[in-house]
Amino acid sequence: MTDIQSLERDILGAIAAAADEPALEQIRVAALGKKGSISELLKSLGTMSADERKANGPLFNGLRDAVASAIAARKTALGDSALDARLAGETVDVTLPPRPENAGTIHPVSQVFDEITTILADLGFAIAEGPDVEYDDYNFTKLNIPPDHPARQMQDTFYLAEQTDGSRHILRTHTSPVQVRTMLKQKPPIRVVAPGRTYRVDSDATHSPMFHQFELLVIDTDIHLGHLKWTIEEFCKAFFEIENVELRARPSFFPFTEPSVEWDLRCDRSVPGKIVFGQGRDWLELGGSGMVNPRVLAMCGIDPDVYQGFAFGGGIDRLGMLKYGIPDIRSFFESDLRWLRHYGFAALDMPSLDGGLSR
Ligand code: DAH
Repeated sequence: MTDIQSLERDILGAIAAAADEPALEQIRVAALGKKGSISELLKSLGTMSADERKANGPLFNGLRDAVASAIAARKTALGDSALDARLAGETVDVTLPPRPENAGTIHPVSQVFDEITTILADLGFAIAEGPDVEYDDYNFTKLNIPPDHPARQMQDTFYLAEQTDGSRHILRTHTSPVQVRTMLKQKPPIRVVAPGRTYRVDSDATHSPMFHQFELLVIDTDIHLGHLKWTIEEFCKAFFEIENVELRARPSFFPFTEPSVEWDLRCDRSVPGKIVFGQGRDWLELGGSGMVNPRVLAMCGIDPDVYQGFAFGGGIDRLGMLKYGIPDIRSFFESDLRWLRHYGFAALDMPSLDGGLSR
């Protein structure tokens, strides 16, 4: 066997044995690179006599062509098998059954949020929103709570750092500033529900520094307390999934409503750890409300001689605790997976009025 033949056999053997593209590239450089064995052979043609060149030229060129095409073929084969391996490794077996132990659940706050908005959307309310970081003006002043008003002390407020003009933003202490925002940008008739996060410096079994409220605001030319009572009644029927709703109205005081009313729902708490709505001798506090104070309307650009309306504010977490028997509000926000599995709701079961709100 000539030297050329044995060189060819060695190189083709190495190409066939190359395990991956980097190994193949090394072989290519060693043979066909600038200083590769075959390149050196081709260079040597230049120093040969005409007869030698005539004899060796076709041999060397034939060797180069054979090696180049073997490398190209091996490269394609390696690429195909790398892709095959990747495809095999990344296969998802879509016929596997789901794994319920890995399924997420809907948090009870989200569930109650959805239930509330579903009920109120059905009553014709639009959803309104405002930011968690709020102007003092919207959270207090435009709600008829001027700077020195004692009601500011009733709501232990989180204050943010001072602005250059000396004012300070706050974390909203209630969802009522969304009333202000809605009136400032929308002309009556207004009918909105505003659910969202609220903050107060407070923490025990029934208070969390971050909690959730929802706010109702209805404004038109002929609104009275009867509309308020009917709305709360309808809401309670749908939310607590009961037919018999008996409400008790208590006079109250809020700077932004006049008159102000707090509502209680008749219930039975005679069996410890259990609560039955619509019957019994106990009363459950639902929230504060009233006819929007004409001063608030005026400060928000609505003529109080033409328009009037009602507002209502209630706690979302509290409603969830009552409806679903959750004893401690702080547990809502501890992200304990066992708690979430126990109290959470199936991810695809959106509350709907005809499908059953909480089933
Ligand atoms: N914003 C009040 C609070 O958090 C609750 C409230 C009372 C809201 C009366 C209202 C209302 O809309 O009319 O204490």
